Amino acid sequence: MTETNLLDEFQSIFNIVEKPRMFFAPGRINLIGEHTDYNGGHVFPASISFGTYALTQKRDDQMLNFYSINFPHIGIIECDLADLAYNEAHDWANFPKGMIKYMCENGHKISSGMDILFYGDIPNGAGLSSSASIEMVTGVLLEGLFDLKIDRVQMIQLGQKVENDYIGVNSGIMDQFAIGKGKKGHAILLNCQSLAYNYAPIELAEHVIIIINTNKQRTLAGSKYNERRAQCDQALENLQTALQIKSLGDLTKEQFEQHKQLITDETNQKRARHAVYENLRTIEALQQLQQGNLKAFGQLMNESHKSLQLDYEVTGIELDTIVQAAWDQPGVVGARMTGAGFGGCAIAIVEKDQVDNFKKNVNHSYNSKIGYEATFYTAAIDDGARELTEGAV
Ligand code: GLA
Repeated sequence: MTETNLLDEFQSIFNIVEKPRMFFAPGRINLIGEHTDYNGGHVFPASISFGTYALTQKRDDQMLNFYSINFPHIGIIECDLADLAYNEAHDWANFPKGMIKYMCENGHKISSGMDILFYGDIPNGAGLSSSASIEMVTGVLLEGLFDLKIDRVQMIQLGQKVENDYIGVNSGIMDQFAIGKGKKGHAILLNCQSLAYNYAPIELAEHVIIIINTNKQRTLAGSKYNERRAQCDQALENLQTALQIKSLGDLTKEQFEQHKQLITDETNQKRARHAVYENLRTIEALQQLQQGNLKAFGQLMNESHKSLQLDYEVTGIELDTIVQAAWDQPGVVGARMTGAGFGGCAIAIVEKDQVDNFKKNVNHSYNSKIGYEATFYTAAIDDGARELTEGAV
């Protein structure tokens, strides 16, 4: 959809007062470091060129009018700035509503109502963070429209709060951080405990990152996400009886192996093992990448998938089939699921010359086992949430 298309849509839905302003927030992939964010570990995500567009204008009353091109059958969802409580009937609009609510509660003055039109080109339910994307596009839109001074990390934290307290998914900070702080051509190594981060250029020379959508939809809230988090919390509590640690991300492999018997439940022990090893893999992955050692990086991606499959048990037949098919192809450096799991997307680093073959063969294996097709995208790593209006900096 071009900018002109979006403007036309806006005009056909709302009464245009003046040319609306346009904002964008990307989706994200995570190269490695899965289910480590809420365990005080490291993640290594990057924002991508797919995302959510929002066009908006101020109103002269206190009404909020939300419309999404992705859900035309729902029509305009209306509410009052004075009543921002979660409302099931407001469906997808609860994400921007939650963001507006928490921005207001944090002392940012939203002085009038707004008309907002959203359009997302992130495949629905693909695990590429469409929900964090809509939260963050709302954040930058409020910042721009009302000339607010908001620290970006605070905006990111408010986005996470929407997810946790408003929507009810106990997710970590990775998605909002990747989207809020994304940088073209770079991934972000983030320490989720201290929020210290640094950018690492992703220069893959003869390789590209392919995103593979299993087309098995997942919703975080309906998934076992919260259960995994609770299992890790229990494991941590057990370990804290003998160790002075704040999170599983504080542990070395040796400490974990030495004390794992303290974790009374066998399943929880596996969950914790994943959290500890995955965190260390993520730190090592950055080092390998910085040394130009793509092969070792790919190896760590593969190990990450195995651990998510066997210890964390968040992959499922679709992701396992697709990742195995990717591993079987020539020119593949590494492949793994990305995001929360339970369906959604995998990523693979593939030699450029092999991409066509790769897609054909992976799709064939997947379709013959699962019974429907996969979809492939080439990931462009692009900037984080921002204003797109002409002339905006
Ligand atoms: C989802 C959550 C993130 C993170 C990943 C798993 O994307 O929103 O906070 O926990 O799953 O790594």
